[in-house]
Order: sequence, then structure tokens, then C-alpha cells
Amino acid sequence: MTQRPSALVVLAAGEGTRMKSTLPKVLHRILGRTLLGHVLVASSATDPQRTIVVVGHGRDAVTAFLADEFPTARTAIQDEQRGTGHAVRIALETLVTTGDSIAGGEGPVVVLAGDAPLITSATLLRLLAAHAASGAAATVLSAVLDQGGDLGRIVRDADGQVIAIVEKKDADATILAGCEVNSGIYAFDPEPLRTALARLTTDNAAGEEYLTDVLALLHSDGLLVDAIAAAAPEEVLGVNDRVQLAEARSLLRDRVVEHWMRQGVTIVDPRTTWIGVQVELAADCTIHQNTQLHGRTRIAAFASIGPDTTLRDVVVEERADVRRTEATGAQIGPGASVGPFSYLRPGTVLAAGAKVGAYVETKNAVIGEGSKVPHLSYVGDAEIGRGSNIGAATIFANYDGVTKHRTVIGDHVRVGSDTILVAPLSIGDGAYTAAGSVIDQDVPAGALGVGRARQRNVDGWVARRRTKSPSSQDTDQPDHSIPGTDQVAGSDLPGELHT
Ligand code: UD1
Ligand code: CA
Repeated sequence: MTQRPSALVVLAAGEGTRMKSTLPKVLHRILGRTLLGHVLVASSATDPQRTIVVVGHGRDAVTAFLADEFPTARTAIQDEQRGTGHAVRIALETLVTTGDSIAGGEGPVVVLAGDAPLITSATLLRLLAAHAASGAAATVLSAVLDQGGDLGRIVRDADGQVIAIVEKKDADATILAGCEVNSGIYAFDPEPLRTALARLTTDNAAGEEYLTDVLALLHSDGLLVDAIAAAAPEEVLGVNDRVQLAEARSLLRDRVVEHWMRQGVTIVDPRTTWIGVQVELAADCTIHQNTQLHGRTRIAAFASIGPDTTLRDVVVEERADVRRTEATGAQIGPGASVGPFSYLRPGTVLAAGAKVGAYVETKNAVIGEGSKVPHLSYVGDAEIGRGSNIGAATIFANYDGVTKHRTVIGDHVRVGSDTILVAPLSIGDGAYTAAGSVIDQDVPAGALGVGRARQRNVDGWVARRRTKSPSSQDTDQPDHSIPGTDQVAGSDLPGELHT
């Protein structure tokens, strides 16, 4: 019967030299989660009694990350990286020194590498089931590849029994020809593991204590050592450099995208769609080309996202349409419409049926039901009621150079085109403002706010002042020397509004 692992030991002390990074290798992220995080999430399905992460290089950063995101994981410090066997030994010794040694009869010790992020919960559960069923002292997860590359080779005897794992550096041509490789993931019975670790030597090409040698020791003790193959070879991909990081990322992308398609999401172009592992999508939403969904983004049914859209921590409700948009920390209500070329910043809330159109930036702005900001505007620190329209090229001037101020706009308001709304400001229900105004005083409900210079026309000015220009050739104007001021005096300002 499968037992809960007594301990999960995740090896993450190595330097990761080939990443050429100041960030510890296991803290590099793919699809919004660190490599180490992927390993911890996948392995948490085995319900381990303890999780110990062996840290060394970059240990402060790794420890801080764990405290933040995986607070139940403990750390064991491996000061010098003397090999994978040494690392597991340190983990078990750290348990003993903290008064928590594994008791007899507890479940297996599962060892994983912190840099192999594609391992799945299903495969780990299968490894544990196989380990329990065979009664082996050690069961290693293997993978059968076309070419073994740099990985350790599983060596079997004529009867197919696993007898050893040989590292590439130590292998002869016969062994190297084998393509069943070591994933670096194992289940061990605690007691045989402990005694074998104590007997490891550094008598090998790397001069390290190899965890892999534990298997040969157990076999020579007459104990059963077994291997089962991972469902897909990609599950054992270790990330050692940025090329493999990209490879792992795109494999995970395929996996996540496939998962959502099987849940009823239409993904128009899986190869250009990137969905973070914490994103949630409802059946019957549609994701178009070149779309990236990050963080805690959630998309509801019949919403349409993309093409060319990046959302981070955005909630999109049913039937909303978001095109060619960049948005962070926004809420997009049912049936709302965003884009193309919109930029929604944190604190943006669009109620049902609201619209934000082309070249509009919003920040900390609530846009009420059915209200529209269709073109070329900045809306910051604002609250807009229901059914209002903000004319093209309206700027909410929210910052006086020292402090941010709010603008409150009521229901069914019409703000004219090219308006500057100087906050703090409030515009009452049903009010209008004249196009081209600077509105720096409150406008009461039902009033028209006008804040601009009056126009006057200077008749014949072109003929007098631009005598030889093409414009003056086209004009057939009499030369009045004084403008007819009565023309503008009688103008009806509301008639000039354009929304
Ligand atoms: C190891 C296996 C190899 C297997 C491969 C799978 C050994 C000797 N070899 O090789 O058979 O095919 O993984 O990817 O185990 N680490 C420590 N402390 C150390 C050394 C390593 O924490 O002293 C950590 C590393 O950070 C890494 C993991 O253990 O996360 C594996 O170590 P690495 O040096 O990459 O082993 P490989 O040479 O890849
Ligand atoms: Ca490795």
C-alpha cells in the first residue's frame, strides 16, 4: 500500500553556473512560478510529512523565497556542494539535529532536483505506487530517450534488474549506448538510504558523493532496486542553462494551453498563447493570437481576449471583449469592451457594458455601467457614473505636482472633446461641458460648464498678412479691416459640442 512520504528532499544547493545569472537557478520563473516552486507544487500531491529543501548557493534568496511562498518547507544548508549524495545526507542529518528524525515504519524518502520543473503529480504518485508494490528499497524514475546525453545511465543485468546508475563521466561506450536515463527523482526506504549514504565515497570522475551510487550499494546488499519510466521524457528535463529554460517554458506552455482547451476554452493559436499557471479560464471563453495572461488573471465564459493582449492580475467578466490591450490589476465587467490599443493600470474597474477605446490610458478609475471613454484620453483617479460619455482627447489632470486628486463624474454626463478636467473636481448628473474647455470648477447637475476663450474671426487676414501665399490666392474675401465681432457674440456654445 502506498504510504505518505516521510520526507520530500528537494536538492537546490548547486550553483547553476551555466545560467550565468545573479539569481539562483531555481528561482528563475516559467509561466509565473519558479523552477523550485513547480517542483514543490507537483510534489505536494504526494502529501509528504516533511519537505526539506537543500540550499547552498544563493541560499539567502532561496530561503527568503520559501518563507514567502512555501512557508511549510524547511531548509537544510549544504555549505560546500560535495555531490547529490552529500546533499541528501545533509538533509537527513539536519532533521536529526532539529529533533525530528524519521521514525521506523514511516513512508519513503522522495528525492527530487529543484531544477526539473516539468515533473507531474501523476508521475510522482505512480513512482510511489510502484515503490510500494514492488517492495524495493529504492525506486528511481527513469526516462527512455533517443540519446542519453549528459544524464546518468540506468544499468540493468541480463534479467532486467536495475543494478546501478553510472554517470556519463564514469561510463564506458557500452553503458553510454544505453538510453534509459536517470531523472534524478527517487523513492527510498529511509533506513537503507541512511546506511548507504554513510558508505558513499568520492572515488569517481567528479570527486563527489553521488546519490546514484546508493542504488549500486543497495543492490550489492541484496536489496531490490527498481526503475519505472516517466510517462513523457519531457518530465525529466533538467534546466541547466537559458536554452533549456526556454525549452522547459515552451513545453509547459503547451501543457497549460492543452489543459485549458480540454476544459472547453477556445485557443486560436496555441503557439503564441502564454497562460500563467495561476490563471483561471472558464469554458467558452476565447483567447486569440499573441495573448499573454499572467498572475491571477481570470476570464469568464464568452469573453474574448486578444489578439495581441497582455493581462496581469485582471478579472474579465462574461462576454467582455478585450483587444490589443495591456492591462494590470483591472476588472472588466460583463459585456464591457476594451481596445484596440488601450492601457489599463491598477485600480481600473469597468462596470457592465462600459467601453474604453483606442489610445486610452486609465488608472485607479471606476467607469460606470454603459459609460464610454472611446478615444485618446487619460482617466486617472476618477469615478464616472452610469451612461456618461467622455469626449475624445479628454485628460483627467489628477496630479498637481505634489498630490493626486480625484474627479467624480455623475450619471449621463457629456464631457466635450479635448477637455482638461482639473482635479479635485465634480461634475453633477446630466451635466455637459463644452469642447476644448479647461474645467477646474465643479459643474452642477444639469449645467453646461464652459472654460475656454471665445473664438473671433478676423476677416481678410490672410489676404493682408499672407499676401503671396497659396492661401491668399484661394481667398476671394473683401478686405474688411475689423472683424465682425457680432458673428461670435451670437454663437450658441452648446451647439458646438461634439461627443
Ligand atoms: C544528476 C544525477 C544524474 C541524473 C541527473 C538528472 C548524480 C550524481 N547524478 O546529475 O544521474 O541523470 O541528475 O538531472 O546525482 N545539488 C546539490 N548539492 C550538490 C550537488 C547537486 O544540492 O552537492 C543539486 C543541484 O543544485 C541540482 C541537483 O542537485 O538541483 C542535481 O545536481 P547536478 O549537479 O545538476 O547533477 P547532474 O550532473 O545533473
Ligand atoms: Ca542537473
